[in-house]
Amino acid sequence: MAAFEKILLKNMDMPDYSGSLKDYERAGGYRAIQNALGKTKPGDLIDIVKRSGLRGRGGAGFPTGVKWGFIPQDHPGPKYLCCNADESEPGTFKDRQLIERDPHQILEGIILACYAIGARTSYIYIRGEFALGAEILEKALDEAYKVGYLGTNILGAGFDLDVYVHRGAGAYICGEETALLESLEGKRGKPRTKPPFPAIAGLYGKPTVINNVETLANIPHIVNRGPEWFMSIGSPPKSPGTRVFSLSGHIARPGNYEVPMGITIREMLEDFGGGMSDGKQLKAIIPGGASASFLTSEHLDVKLDFEGIASAGSMLGSGAITFMNEGTCMVWAAERLLEFFHHESCGKCTPCREGSMWLLQILHRMEAGHGKHEDLDLLLKLCGNIAGQTVCAFGDAEIAPIVSTLQHFRHEYEAHIRDGCCPYRTEQAELVSTGSSQRH
Ligand SMILES: Cc1cc2nc3c(=O)[nH]c(=O)nc-3n(C[C@H](O)[C@H](O)[C@H](O)COP(=O)(O)O)c2cc1C
Repeated sequence: MAAFEKILLKNMDMPDYSGSLKDYERAGGYRAIQNALGKTKPGDLIDIVKRSGLRGRGGAGFPTGVKWGFIPQDHPGPKYLCCNADESEPGTFKDRQLIERDPHQILEGIILACYAIGARTSYIYIRGEFALGAEILEKALDEAYKVGYLGTNILGAGFDLDVYVHRGAGAYICGEETALLESLEGKRGKPRTKPPFPAIAGLYGKPTVINNVETLANIPHIVNRGPEWFMSIGSPPKSPGTRVFSLSGHIARPGNYEVPMGITIREMLEDFGGGMSDGKQLKAIIPGGASASFLTSEHLDVKLDFEGIASAGSMLGSGAITFMNEGTCMVWAAERLLEFFHHESCGKCTPCREGSMWLLQILHRMEAGHGKHEDLDLLLKLCGNIAGQTVCAFGDAEIAPIVSTLQHFRHEYEAHIRDGCCPYRTEQAELVSTGSSQRH
């Protein structure tokens, strides 16, 4: 594919780049706050982000500037910004790299976002297992406080900001924005009913923006180079910019790759992932983390942007792409994912709590060769009872692997029932990874 310029992973390609404040500044970092704080009106900053077309990288793809614009500017009390660094979606490990390798890029994005919405306090909610990431962020915060990029009267602009790192206790649901807020408040992480939306009543009932790590990391670049520049990259007008995709599964080169949105899944696999490993054929693709519906090798020419993936019947989600080869049983894959979702269901909504258990029981017996013909209809009926019936999107996420494998690979379910065994699985390897030691 044509050459392009990385935005978010660019600094990491510099020789000896350590992610320290000194290195980040050497790479042009903290220029955006120097140019914006006290010089650009907060409302104008929101307008810049709106015009850039940036959409959230956490999963839902909501337009970032529009979200910021929902915060009441004249609200008299505190407002908050929460950086969502929970990153628990199976297959996703991009935020981890951004945090560990270039923490100041995220901090600068947080400072700009807080200035724009008028927040004086921000929390980075980081996945409990990311011990190294939390340590690195704490160190970056210390560095930023020391030089006056955080604290009181930042850069003499009359703007005060404190940022805290809060470590989660390892629950997938705490990545859901309202469960994250509950957890931050010291309660059990369970999603809240919306409305009210966090922009009106969020953390401690105050107006709050929740943004993903990658979303915030884009902000300094948009401020430095302008919304038109950002809008010219990727797949405008609805999917501008780059995306850091986490590639995993049966491919030659798993890892994080930043590419302009709109390249095809085929380009992603062949030009970046190095193709399928061991000369095996591709069978299935999860294009956006475990919550996204499965696609097949027929979908290789689908574009990796919000609309492209949606029109193929799935979603871009967290930007994690898992490739599965011909030796992977689709019933087994759905079962493995359901085990995860059942384990992580927070229990608040009956359809999700009970439904995930029933679904898993059916998949267990089918994979063990004890499936019944009625089970296929039963699976779909149970999924139908969960779809849209839960407080948060978890319910829709947990049924996606089943509904989509039944749609594309029904014959594999039928073969399990007919033959009384699993005739497809030759691959024992873990499909998805939640962390990668590879650096790109
Ligand atoms: C079950 C569940 C888990 C989620 N996990 C994450 C996560 O780990 N990180 C994240 O940024 N967003 C996650 N989200 C999406 C958030 O609720 C929210 O949409 C996002 O943080 C908003 O940021 P953005 O607009 O910058 O994308 C999750 C959503 C659901 C339903």
